[in-house]
Amino acid sequence: MNITLQQTIEFRKMDPADLDRVILIEREIFLFPWSPGNFSDSIKAGYVCQVLEQAGTIFGYGIMMMSPEEAHILTIGIATNWQKKGWGKKLLQQFIQYARGENAKSIFLDVRESNHGARGFIS
Ligand SMILES: CC(C)(COP(=O)(O)OP(=O)(O)OC[C@H]1O[C@@H](n2cnc3c(N)ncnc32)[C@H](O)[C@@H]1OP(=O)(O)O)[C@@H](O)C(=O)NCCC(=O)NCCS
Repeated sequence: MNITLQQTIEFRKMDPADLDRVILIEREIFLFPWSPGNFSDSIKAGYVCQVLEQAGTIFGYGIMMMSPEEAHILTIGIATNWQKKGWGKKLLQQFIQYARGENAKSIFLDVRESNHGARGFIS
């Protein structure tokens, strides 16, 4: 018998209960990580806060702030072991689709000049 075990990947809204795991990833991938307060403030402010999850394990997240005509992606992160598998791009596409649905005319993602990985990601 041949059984394929395929775990579905879920894109879902970030919940305060997710923050312990999100912070672990944040500290792993950023030189200047956000604090837990930055994340909880973003949830409270009603920003678009998303996580990527497989079988109960969060491996990516992103936060986007919407203004009337533009969207600003404040952060996007994929856990090291999950990078370069296309998940960052999928999350970015989700944000772009959401921003379009809200009639945003432009979308911004700030990247440090020294962050060569992220610059490759957005180029
Ligand atoms: C940047 C980041 C979100 C990319 O996520 P990812 O899942 O690894 O990226 P993907 O696999 O979806 O790759 C998408 C594209 O970016 C490119 N890319 C990804 N990482 C790269 C790297 N380190 N160097 C150069 N290009 C890279 C891929 O080649 C791919 O290009 P393609 O579409 O032409 O094939 C992830 O590396 C990360 O979390 N980095 C640390 C946090 C960070 O810098 N966030 C962004 C600034 S807020």
